[in-house]
Amino acid sequence: MRAAALRQIFIHTFDIVARYFFGPTEANRMTSPRKILVTSALPYANGAIHLGHMVETIQTDIWVRFQKQRGHECYYVCADDAHGTAIMLSAEKAGLSPEQQIARIHDEHLADFNDFLIDFDHYHSTHSEENRELSSLIYERVKANGHIAERTITQAYDPEKGMFLADRYIKGRCPKCKTEDQYGDNCEACGATYSPLELIDPVSVVSGATPVAKESKHFFFTLPEFADYLKTWTRAGHLQDEVANKLAEWLDAGLQEWDISRDAPYFGFEIPGEKDKFFYVWLDAPIGYMASFKYLCEQNGLDFDTYWKADSDAELYHFIGKDIVNFHALFWPALLSSANFRTPTKVCVHGFLTVDGKKMSKSRGTFINARTYLEHLNPEYLRYYYASKLGHTVDDIDLNLEDFVQRVNSDLVGKVVNIASRTAKFVQKAGGTLSATIAEPELWARYVEQAPRIAELYEAREYNKAMREIMALADAANEYIAEQAPWSLNKTPGNEQAVLDICSLGLNCFRAIMMFLKPVLPETAIKAEAFLNCSLDWPETLDFLGEHQIEAFKPLMTRIEKDKVDAMVDASKESAPVAAPAADSWLGKEPVADEIEFGDFAKVDLRIARIANAEHVEGADKLLRLTLDLGGETRNVFAGIKSAYAPEDLIGKLTVMVANLKPRKMKFGMSEGMVLAAGPGKDELYILEPHAGAQPGMRVM
Ligand code: MSP
Ligand code: ZN
Repeated sequence: MRAAALRQIFIHTFDIVARYFFGPTEANRMTSPRKILVTSALPYANGAIHLGHMVETIQTDIWVRFQKQRGHECYYVCADDAHGTAIMLSAEKAGLSPEQQIARIHDEHLADFNDFLIDFDHYHSTHSEENRELSSLIYERVKANGHIAERTITQAYDPEKGMFLADRYIKGRCPKCKTEDQYGDNCEACGATYSPLELIDPVSVVSGATPVAKESKHFFFTLPEFADYLKTWTRAGHLQDEVANKLAEWLDAGLQEWDISRDAPYFGFEIPGEKDKFFYVWLDAPIGYMASFKYLCEQNGLDFDTYWKADSDAELYHFIGKDIVNFHALFWPALLSSANFRTPTKVCVHGFLTVDGKKMSKSRGTFINARTYLEHLNPEYLRYYYASKLGHTVDDIDLNLEDFVQRVNSDLVGKVVNIASRTAKFVQKAGGTLSATIAEPELWARYVEQAPRIAELYEAREYNKAMREIMALADAANEYIAEQAPWSLNKTPGNEQAVLDICSLGLNCFRAIMMFLKPVLPETAIKAEAFLNCSLDWPETLDFLGEHQIEAFKPLMTRIEKDKVDAMVDASKESAPVAAPAADSWLGKEPVADEIEFGDFAKVDLRIARIANAEHVEGADKLLRLTLDLGGETRNVFAGIKSAYAPEDLIGKLTVMVANLKPRKMKFGMSEGMVLAAGPGKDELYILEPHAGAQPGMRVM
């Protein structure tokens, strides 16, 4: 007996034995369709979708398309996460109401996802009637169970703006090391953690006012009561091991009660029965998954309870990034179980995107918005590249731009499409009907054997391994075709049938590969279906297509041109400062200050200065020491521009300074004036420079 046949018997026997002991594996359980509800995390409604978000939606969409292709009843819902202080403030800066802003962003997000071929069954908003009702319902149930506590707490309050301030909206000097410009919860310089009320000279980032301490009543979800429940739940197969291990650290350290309320003004849902108290955005955000599905049910006559009742046998999958695990794997299951709803079957956690090995960066042009990508490149290229990188771990994934071009061109164009383009013409020449003879049974057997394994890899979200298996099959088909060389055989009369048989097998291999790749390349799969004149559903056993008429072959996919990638990176550099669509101009972000009299302005003595010297200051992270030459007088000025400029880039340049600013004593010495610079601060800052001809000491009016 030949080795291949032996292997087949072995695999077959193994499969029967395995099924006897374990039942059919999830991926290959096809006789009874599964009911599956799937979600991706809800993007915030105050910024554009970027290629980091796309890691998640592409990962989810591939999984959902795979399940649908396998004949399961699978729904994919998502929504914009529309509530919270950040969205309220960004709308205000853009001169919009929060409702206007979230409507605009909703449309932009949805267009981006559609163009990336993300096939949501519904894309909702957390600011919706369905969500208001479900959030209230869950809150009422949790409260009735005694899982809501009330306490008065003291927080920082902005008396000018009339609002409480979250830690990130307060800045001041670190109480420990005294570094300036630190956020309300921890110091970037010395790593100290503290409460915002301990900061020295704190200011509200929102208004510039000095915050005061103020009391108010808050509502808490009594999470510690769920400690035992969660210790079991997190180890019950709903999470990747590495995620469960991370959570165990938190569970062992002890859980805190979770503050679920915020005071007005807040953009969100008012808490039932309370005045000026709102649900914290993270309370109603995951409930937004249910709300989106609820809307879908109402539109399509589906039964909501089948999927959400406590003893549901439908499956629920949440795909999320590693930064929001605590919300999905601690708060969320606890909340659902208290409110008598089902909990997730699996929370699938992925890592973060890096580009060329580094964090996405606006200055390098690697902070790439979904729209910018789409303006330059085909979405399927990125879908395939991410698939080839994504495993079931929480490791970060890297978009290496050179590898991206190389991988897509060599795998998709060079291997996959090549099989069809080399063989189709010979089948056409013979009349366009595939032969039923399997010219090389061993090759075809390998495809049949691999199909269930590839299905399992998809099911387990090991797309990288699946892509590797699929490309190995493509290599085998290409080798076979190269060995048989139908283009030479074809030259000798009498070989017509042999040529047709070889090419029919080639096209069956191509069909199988396109079937395997359909979740990743939905648009190319549609073209392949038209060409092959058959659907690419994924049956339990792969069948051989013989005595079957096909259509004329048209090119399916073109190569990536490197200059398109370069153009995308360049465009990302330019568009970076306005990447957040919340504000179309800096004017919107930084509204013009109150009107002043000319006399007020004239008090400021602005002068042209030459930067005679610039140097680092020992012990200061942000400051450079500048020696400014005013044409007859020099000044010593400390400027917080270290992260934007290297000293050697500044020396010799002309700039504008405030020459009559009262000298200030700083930790490192006296600062005698100030240079003018534009920008949002820190890393992005541009010092002003006059046109040629201006001389040091000239007055600026
Ligand atoms: N609004 C919350 C989620 C609420 S879910 C009930 C949120 N929004 S987000 O816009 O910041 O992120 C949405 C998803 O995108 C998250 O799962 C997040 O992990 C993921 N990603 C955002 N940036 C990412 C990368 N750079 N790389 C990979 N995924 C990233 O969190
Ligand atoms: Zn410090």
